[in-house]
Amino acid sequence: MAGKYASVSGESRVLTGKVDRLLTRLLLAYKGGIFVELIIAANWKMHKTAAETAGFCRALRQFEAGFKGVEVLICPPFTALPAAEAALAGSEIKLGAQNMHWETRGAQTGEIAASMLLEFGVEYVIIGHSERRHLMGEDNTQIQRKIGTALQNGLKPILCVGETETEREQGVTEKVIKKQLSEALDGQDSQKLGSLVLAYEPVWAIGTGKAASAEDADRAAALIRNFLEDKLGSKTAGELRIQYGGSVKADNIGFFVGLPSVQGALVGGASLEVDSFSALVQAARKAVIS
Ligand code: 13P
Repeated sequence: MAGKYASVSGESRVLTGKVDRLLTRLLLAYKGGIFVELIIAANWKMHKTAAETAGFCRALRQFEAGFKGVEVLICPPFTALPAAEAALAGSEIKLGAQNMHWETRGAQTGEIAASMLLEFGVEYVIIGHSERRHLMGEDNTQIQRKIGTALQNGLKPILCVGETETEREQGVTEKVIKKQLSEALDGQDSQKLGSLVLAYEPVWAIGTGKAASAEDADRAAALIRNFLEDKLGSKTAGELRIQYGGSVKADNIGFFVGLPSVQGALVGGASLEVDSFSALVQAARKAVIS
């Protein structure tokens, strides 16, 4: 990028760079009749120390020119947030957290508050990931409170929904997703819900190498989209992004972001190495352009 604008003054170079980025974004994001930007989030779960995070973020920045038009975020463990913030300073790669408590302070041993995340430049927070629902017993009431606190504090929630293998076999996928959505979004301030991101993550596809089929992902994402339209109206719902998550890799991402109802991915295993994650983001970008 620097080479491309080397012949213009510093000020106009910055301006030209901004216009260029905006045009690329609009071009990339035109999907299904509305402009939306793809969002690809790396959920590192309980992986990487602060030192490993800093090294990863510095290395990832070298690929950033190839991410234009895709919103990319890293969700490291809490202890690595300061290192990630420092290593990403001046970059367009954003930061997310993996969880947050609904109270803003108090006697909550082992928990973390919105203000503590904001202090390190966190913009997004994953809420209701299936590992928290199933390993930590998080329920829809707690998730509803967390979404409310995130919205009130200016954090953008990534609300995860999805059925287990047993629920899928019982044919209750639709019912489970609708219940997760309606209970999590019950009573939320609709003026603030424009910043919400939804992630459809079928539990049976997480970390198994068995990604959902296009039909399954599209059916679930369309169900989520219809639910949001009924709740928020078609304009607001049309601007919200729905991610697919579960065994996403560079060689299948194109297939998911090509679906009419999907505008991004929540990535676990394939986000842990710089090469696999940067290849995945670039593959998503390419799939939407062509
Ligand atoms: P995998 O990409 O490893 O299947 O994990 C998905 C996930 O849980 C992201 O939140």
